[in-house]
Amino acid sequence: MIDLSLAIIGGTGVYSLAQLEDAEAHQPVTAYGPPSGPIRVGTLSGKRVAFLARHGEGHSLPPHKINYRANLAALKALGATKVLAINTVGGITEAFGPRVLACPDQLIDYTWGRVSTLSEEPGSEVLHVDFGDPYTLSLRERVLSAAGRAGVTVVGRGCYGATQGPRLETKAEIARMKRDGCDLVGMTGMPEAGLARELGLDYACLAIVANWAAGAGPNPDEVITFEDVLAHVAAASAHLPALVAAL
Ligand code: HPA
Repeated sequence: MIDLSLAIIGGTGVYSLAQLEDAEAHQPVTAYGPPSGPIRVGTLSGKRVAFLARHGEGHSLPPHKINYRANLAALKALGATKVLAINTVGGITEAFGPRVLACPDQLIDYTWGRVSTLSEEPGSEVLHVDFGDPYTLSLRERVLSAAGRAGVTVVGRGCYGATQGPRLETKAEIARMKRDGCDLVGMTGMPEAGLARELGLDYACLAIVANWAAGAGPNPDEVITFEDVLAHVAAASAHLPALVAAL
């Protein structure tokens, strides 16, 4: 086991962490199978940090095919106790326009058919973990204070709605999510957060808003392209190195 200060899971558009020095690749096979790709462990600001690209380093895995259990179990096996999940999202409510960074405090799960618990296999212990506050408060506070020290603006609240994908949502689906109280929409927030809780990992989300969700922005008929998504993520990600170093 490595004395890891932090594990980071990168989402769409965030496939590496250039700041990692002397990085070595690990690919532990877990009881749930292999993770999405190599886990790169290196030094950042004098601390050992692990990085894993959630979709694989070449973005080859769609959200519903990601082995979330293997990813988290592999990070835990390496020694991680704290996981910062970077998730690319669409913005639904006013404070969450393109290029905003947010650290949500709530979520609603609209995904279906994904293996969403460690209790899946017959004979495994049935876990009913508390999930009232799905993200770990102490880690969220550390993210927000690191952002403050680094001079990076992060909205310190929000409700993340996790959808099945890989298609984007209809305008009616986003309107329903807004009525439900969602501020953000993404495809990978669940079951990852729930599994992290089952595994006893501290877990927080740093959401990067890549676009207005369908029908949500000032131009409700705007078509969302993957190019726009990647361009906004690239622009917003420019703040990540300072934030991560401060964290
Ligand atoms: N919907 C769902 N997931 C997303 C979006 C979106 O609009 N943008 C980036 N990830």
